[in-house]
Amino acid sequence: MNKTILVLTGSPRVGGNSDQLADAFIRGVQSAGNSVLRFDAGRKQIGPCVGCQGCFSKGTPCMVVDDFTEFALDLLKADAIAIFTPLYWFNWPAGIKAAIDKLFSFYCSENPTRVRESLFVVCGESDQMDTYDPIIRTYEKTAELMHWENKGHIVVPSVFEAGAVQSTPAIAGMEKIGTYF
Ligand SMILES: Cc1cc2nc3c(=O)[nH]c(=O)nc-3n(C[C@H](O)[C@H](O)[C@H](O)COP(=O)(O)O)c2cc1C
Repeated sequence: MNKTILVLTGSPRVGGNSDQLADAFIRGVQSAGNSVLRFDAGRKQIGPCVGCQGCFSKGTPCMVVDDFTEFALDLLKADAIAIFTPLYWFNWPAGIKAAIDKLFSFYCSENPTRVRESLFVVCGESDQMDTYDPIIRTYEKTAELMHWENKGHIVVPSVFEAGAVQSTPAIAGMEKIGTYF
């Protein structure tokens, strides 16, 4: 059966390592005949959740209308979500963090998303694997709260300059994973 996979990216840097990992994954997904929606949160304008709890009360997912509306519509169309982000200060870059905070609108309202499965990919400069623990744990708790079946996480360490990921096995690996996700 044809699936729709929402690829959520977190880097503000166009064509950087996490973008290239996402591109490889998308090639795999499409070669398997599945569909892709892509939301580049790091390059969108999403303000902070202000905690007003007015989610969906005026028809839009958030009272403060911004690019989260586009992400929310994608979440209502997708069967699965695959997240690709760089590590910033042991955690999420600000743009994707704002998008994740606004998932609150689905959590606190009666509007469940269609998404049932998730995958998480993070890259960073560090070669110390425990550096990635905080963001992995946050992802795991997010998946649990959103009732996404967590299909796992992948860390791509030791990549700093844009394109460094091309000299790792991760690009071929992501394309392969895309074919059977
Ligand atoms: C503001 C900022 C914070 C960062 N913080 C970390 C960090 O805490 N740990 C780490 O290993 N790398 C860190 N990095 C390095 C990036 O994660 C790394 O360069 C990554 O490959 C960038 O992904 P991108 O090319 O997709 O933007 C940071 C980079 C920036 C610009």
